[in-house]
Amino acid sequence: MRVLGIETSCDETAAAVVEGGFTVRAHVISSQADLHATFGGVVPEIASRRHVEVITAVVEEALAKAGTSLEEIEGIAVTNRPGLIGSLLVGVSMAKGLAFGRGLPLVGVHHLEGHIFASFVAAGGPVVPAVALIASGGHTELFYVRAPHDYQVMGRRLDDAAGEAFDKGARAVGLEAGGGAALDQLARQGNPQAVPFPRARTDHPLDFSFSGLKTALLRFLETDGGRTPVADVAASYQQAIVDVLVEHALQAAHAAEVDAVLVGGGVAANSRLQAQLRTVATARNLRVAFPPPDLCTDNAAMIAAAGHSLLERGVRHGFDLETKAREPLTTATFAPACQVEVG
Ligand code: KG4
Ligand code: ZN
Repeated sequence: MRVLGIETSCDETAAAVVEGGFTVRAHVISSQADLHATFGGVVPEIASRRHVEVITAVVEEALAKAGTSLEEIEGIAVTNRPGLIGSLLVGVSMAKGLAFGRGLPLVGVHHLEGHIFASFVAAGGPVVPAVALIASGGHTELFYVRAPHDYQVMGRRLDDAAGEAFDKGARAVGLEAGGGAALDQLARQGNPQAVPFPRARTDHPLDFSFSGLKTALLRFLETDGGRTPVADVAASYQQAIVDVLVEHALQAAHAAEVDAVLVGGGVAANSRLQAQLRTVATARNLRVAFPPPDLCTDNAAMIAAAGHSLLERGVRHGFDLETKAREPLTTATFAPACQVEVG
């Protein structure tokens, strides 16, 4: 089955053609990052307007790059939750129009399920059972993935998401654009041990809290008065985020008794996270699946892949498919995590 995927949940307009579930024929991303840069965050109204302007061209480009046309598409998958409502509506309306016009099955996909499927795409098929760490600008969550579409929550963010911590940290150290990717770049020249930033502890050992770290960075910059090289500050700050992500992912794998860790979301592109998790995972005989960088951040290939799997299972949505600003991927909680020991 050849599925067209559409993703417009935030500030990326994306379309992709995926075949047989995990083969990406083409995927196109039109980023609005520069449009929002001066505002210090995504402006919802600007985001949805830009989606409207570019979505048709992005879909056409994906079809052309895949060497196919709508006549050969057999299903339409679209992110319908969670995300910015005005942005989601653009993608969902486009998907409904295409499905209606060509009489194709339509399926709405949860954005976080898409990020899990990005790892499956990278691996060429489902890697289960596993734990999945999804860390992006809006999410930092750990899931037990028993099988495709069967998820339980192991840990969640209590305040800032990891990507948000990266973005705020990047701005605090003077990087005007580029967010986490720019901080990652700067940190490569720095000493990650230079500043002892805190690693937040939470009541539930697998939850995440990064707001205290951000405050610690601001306080440090104020009192340091520019004495510590900025690359050292960036590397130390990044290390504090990465240590927590790696430790929690390993604890989750231990608690769930799985030997695979999937990582997704924009923060999965972080070079330090990738290197550190790979090193410790190898030492513990764990398999780690990182999507390639262009499938870590928001894209439509992951949506087409997840949609393909849902369509294969007979899931179909009508033209009354809703958009939702918030919705957990699952309400099921992985119980043994409550008694997790630091492994
Ligand atoms: O998944 P994504 O594209 O969008 C959301 O769903 O939020 O993630 C974007 C986030 C941003 O916060 C960005 O700063 C972060 O991912 N990010 C990174 C890196 N590349 C993107 N964070 C750390 N290191 C990177 N290399
Ligand atoms: Zn995302």
